[in-house]
Amino acid sequence: MKRILVTGGNKGIGKAICERLLQEWDNTHVILTARNAERGKSAVEDIIKTLNCSPERIEFLEMDVSSDESVKAAGAAFEKMSAGTALDGIINNAGIGWGYSTEETVNTNYFGVRRVNDAFGKFLKRPGGRIVHIASASGPNFVADLAKNDPLRKILGQPWTIEGSGAERVALLDQLAKETKTNNGYGVGKAFLNAYTHVFARMNPDLVINSCTPGYILTDITKGMGASNPPSKGAVPPCWLMMDESIAEEPTGRYYGSDCVRSPLDVYRGPGDAPYINDEDAK
Ligand SMILES: NC(=O)c1ccc[n+]([C@@H]2O[C@H](COP(=O)([O-])OP(=O)(O)OC[C@H]3O[C@@H](n4cnc5c(N)ncnc54)[C@H](OP(=O)(O)O)[C@@H]3O)[C@@H](O)[C@H]2O)c1
Repeated sequence: MKRILVTGGNKGIGKAICERLLQEWDNTHVILTARNAERGKSAVEDIIKTLNCSPERIEFLEMDVSSDESVKAAGAAFEKMSAGTALDGIINNAGIGWGYSTEETVNTNYFGVRRVNDAFGKFLKRPGGRIVHIASASGPNFVADLAKNDPLRKILGQPWTIEGSGAERVALLDQLAKETKTNNGYGVGKAFLNAYTHVFARMNPDLVINSCTPGYILTDITKGMGASNPPSKGAVPPCWLMMDESIAEEPTGRYYGSDCVRSPLDVYRGPGDAPYINDEDAK
């Protein structure tokens, strides 16, 4: 069985990812995590019932990605419940939308992923384990809106040009993610997430690490904003990055559009537009 952990799995795209993993592949085991135990357990029950799936294939783990303590405790609980069985993949989906301070948003949407990878990366099967980050078109849009002479433009748009060891490059991203002043907390968090995806993939050449946007999907984050695509559609690109054989043959650390086509980090590429080609990142 392929054991895959999904953060923020109790509703929206995260829940749809859990469902798709169980429905489309019969060799998957899902660890659905959520910050609220009641909501998480109820989602697990609902998935078992609606998919008529074996309760053996899905389990719940409590984890609030915004909290160091909660993620560490989840890591310890996971170690106990897994009894040494490796994890095949992590899908970092948990995220918050608008209506929060930039600090809160970056803490969940960027540092939340950092925490989960730091705590759970050691459980991943090597070589071949996979990590998927759910980013957003708001990331490239944020970079595109930066002033032409803003040094952040190169750091976030071409993270392969950042100098130093992997640890130094991540430390720089962490520092800048904390210090960058903007009212667009959602965009900045997702732009840093994309840059970190590249750097973290280079630090872990034995893993397959990529990010994607799920597309514009009707969930609690986008309610009233005109989105109409169902969460099941948003689950397609992350599940593709987690499960497709061909992606393991490609250079990692890349960002994919909702059409599962490679996209740039510094400008929006829409579904159906020409693929982004640049192999500088793979050197
Ligand atoms: N919807 C879109 O159009 C769209 C577009 C681009 C990217 N995204 C990204 O897709 C991901 C899923 O969003 P969604 O649209 O499905 O929104 P959603 O329905 O609001 O789901 C967000 C999920 O993240 C969880 N979450 C939030 N903060 C958390 C924390 N601190 N710890 C653990 N879980 C937490 C939520 O749990 P609670 O129920 O406890 O709040 C919920 O399960 C996010 O990363 C979002 O940025 C969405």
